[in-house]
Amino acid sequence: MRVTADRETGGDIVWAPTWLEEVDSTQLELKRRWAQRPDLAPGTVFAARRQTAGRGRHGRAWISGVNRNLCFSLLWPLAPDGPPAAAATLAAALAVDDLLQARGIPSRPKWPNDVLVGERKICGILAEILPGEPAALALGIGLNVNLEAEALTAIGRPATSMREETGQVYDLPPLLEEALRALTPWLSRWARLGFAGLRVAWELRSQSLGQPIGIHQGADLVRGRVAGYGPAGELLLETAPGRVQAIWSGEIVEPGAGAVNRTVAGGVHESMAGP
Ligand code: BTN
Repeated sequence: MRVTADRETGGDIVWAPTWLEEVDSTQLELKRRWAQRPDLAPGTVFAARRQTAGRGRHGRAWISGVNRNLCFSLLWPLAPDGPPAAAATLAAALAVDDLLQARGIPSRPKWPNDVLVGERKICGILAEILPGEPAALALGIGLNVNLEAEALTAIGRPATSMREETGQVYDLPPLLEEALRALTPWLSRWARLGFAGLRVAWELRSQSLGQPIGIHQGADLVRGRVAGYGPAGELLLETAPGRVQAIWSGEIVEPGAGAVNRTVAGGVHESMAGP
């Protein structure tokens, strides 16, 4: 499958997806292959119809029954003089947001690695650096596609799926191709420009400035207001008037009634009530 990025980014990558009927985790599979063959081609993709030990962030399990989720991990090259890897998950979240919006699902990216519909998670992203000369990025994406209400409830955290949102059942291989097409320009932009290439879209679609949030930092919950995003995509949290803390990772809990910026078709910018 060849996907050429748009003229603006000038990027070009040949995606080579391999579908596995069952694997423990596509992320582990990619890492195993990388360890065996560090010259694995950029654009290598492992996708699975079922993962038996899918992994999320913070050591969580990622549940995925047969043909229920789009689960894949891709290999993206890291240039030695390239931008910090932190914002790669933001690029991927924007791409998945595009895919869902194009299908009429009112999604939004959530810093740093989720896509939500309302307050329900529909996609999670895991980024890991694979050491080497040059190093590479393993980007694992789990999109809830055909999960039914009962399975969503079993997750134990607010979650939704494309099926739940649209009533349709989806075939996974064409959806993977669509996801890779959506990912190419965003990842190319990030690789070329870093977070600067994502900033406008990110600020428009994600947590709005001034929104009160709390962020889990290990066992601690740090509270404040979103003051913006730093040059590498780190979240700037105003914890007290005039005191801004850069947050590089963690999980946002959104306690307040903040307005959430949103784009709709035609590029119109509107505001909708938060939780
Ligand atoms: C998260 O939200 O915690 C990240 C979830 C990432 C899940 C995907 S599914 C494909 C790839 N393989 C894994 O084991 N994990 C990632």
